[in-house]
Amino acid sequence: MSGLIQPHGGTLVNRVAEEPRRHELVHEAGGLPRIDLSAKQSCDVEMIGIGAFSPLTGFMGSKDFNSVITDMKLASGDIWPIPITLSVSKDKAPAVGSRVALYAPNGTLQAVMTIEEVYDHDRAKEATIFFNKAGDDDGQHPGAEAVKKEGDTCLAGPIEVVTVCVDPNGPEAFLDFRLTPAETRAEFEKRGWKTVSAFQTRNPIHRAHEYLCKCAQEITDGILIHPLVGETKPGDIPADVRMRCYQKLISEYFVPATTMLSVMPAAMRYAGPREAILHALVRKNYGVTHFIVGRDHAGVGSYYGTYDAQTIFDGLDKANLGIEPLKFEHAAYSKKAQGMVSGKTFPKIEGDQVFLSGTKVRDMLAQGERPPGEFTRPEVADILIEWATKA
Ligand code: ADX
Repeated sequence: MSGLIQPHGGTLVNRVAEEPRRHELVHEAGGLPRIDLSAKQSCDVEMIGIGAFSPLTGFMGSKDFNSVITDMKLASGDIWPIPITLSVSKDKAPAVGSRVALYAPNGTLQAVMTIEEVYDHDRAKEATIFFNKAGDDDGQHPGAEAVKKEGDTCLAGPIEVVTVCVDPNGPEAFLDFRLTPAETRAEFEKRGWKTVSAFQTRNPIHRAHEYLCKCAQEITDGILIHPLVGETKPGDIPADVRMRCYQKLISEYFVPATTMLSVMPAAMRYAGPREAILHALVRKNYGVTHFIVGRDHAGVGSYYGTYDAQTIFDGLDKANLGIEPLKFEHAAYSKKAQGMVSGKTFPKIEGDQVFLSGTKVRDMLAQGERPPGEFTRPEVADILIEWATKA
C-alpha cells in the first residue's frame, strides 16, 4: 500500500480495456447499437475510464442522480456534487440488459457500455445545481442551458473504454502531459512528494494565479498545475494556446523540483461551488492532498458569491472529502507593497491594486498590446498576443 492519499471511495477505478479484451470489444461494437456522444459526454467517458471520477465505473443511475442533486452524495454516502449522466432521446433508448457502443464526436469508437437502467432525465431538477435558488435561473447560464438541451432519457451502467484519447493527433491531445491518476500517483511517489497541492485552471496563468501556486508550493512538497482541457464554453481561450503559456511560464518562473504540469481531460460545467467540490475530489483521485480554491472558483457571470466555492466545503464531512481545500482571498499586485497581496495580507488603499477586467485584457491583446507586467508575465502576454492577433 502506498503512502499516498486514498482515492475517493477507496479504490482507484480503471475501466480502460487492455488487450486482448480491447480487441474483443472493438469486434463486439461493430454489431451493437450506436450512441453518438456529445463533447461533454465524451470527456466524461475518459474521466470515468482513467479513474479520475472514482468511485464511478460508469454513468449514474437514478438513485445516484437524485441523491447527488438533493444531498451532494452518491447513494453509497460518498460526497459527490454533480450528476454524471449519459442522456439520449427516448427513441434511441436501448433495452435494459443490452450493450451499446459509444462513439466520440469525431466518430472514434470510445467505449462499450452495459445498460443497467433507463430513466427519465429530470433536466429541470438537474439545472437547479447551478443556482442558489430557482429565481437565479435567467436562461443564460452556460452549464444550466447545456443541461436543458440534453436528452430526455438517461442510460446508466458500467463502461469499458477502448480509446482513451479520442483525437491523439489533434492540437489538444497533449499526450506527454495527459497523465492518468495512476500515472500522477506514480510520479509523486518517484519524486518523494507526500503532500501535493493542485491548481485547477481554465485560463492562462496570470500573476494572481501564479501567486496562489507559489504560496501552495511553500506549504506542500510540490504542485501539480492541472489545467482543464476538455470542453469549455465559446470565448474561453483554447487549451493549446493555454498550454504554450503554461509551459513557457513554468520554464521561466517555476522550479522543476517542485512543479509538475499535467492536463485534466474534463469538461467545464461552470457550476461554481459544486464544481469546486468535484474538482477537489477528482484531484484526490490523482493523488493530490491540497486543492487551491480562490475567488469565484469555476464561476461564470455573477451567479455565485466571490467565496461561495470556499464556504461550501465547510459543510462537508472532512474524512470523506479527504483532500484539504487551500482557500485564497482575491489576490492582486499592490503598487505600494510591490508584490502580490490579498485583503488578508495588506491594507486596502484606493487605486493601489492592479485590477484589469477580462474584456480590457482581451482588447489589449487583440491590439497587440501587452497588459502590464503586474497583471501577466510578458512571456505569457506575447503568446496570447500572437493568438489574439491571428484570429
Ligand atoms: S476556474 O474556472 O478554473 O476556477 P480560473 O482559471 O480563472 O477559473 O481560476 C483558477 C483558480 O484561481 C480558481 O481556484 C480561482 O478561484 C482562482 N483565482 C483566479 N483569479 C484569482 C484571483 N485574482 N485571486 C484569487 N484567486 C483567483
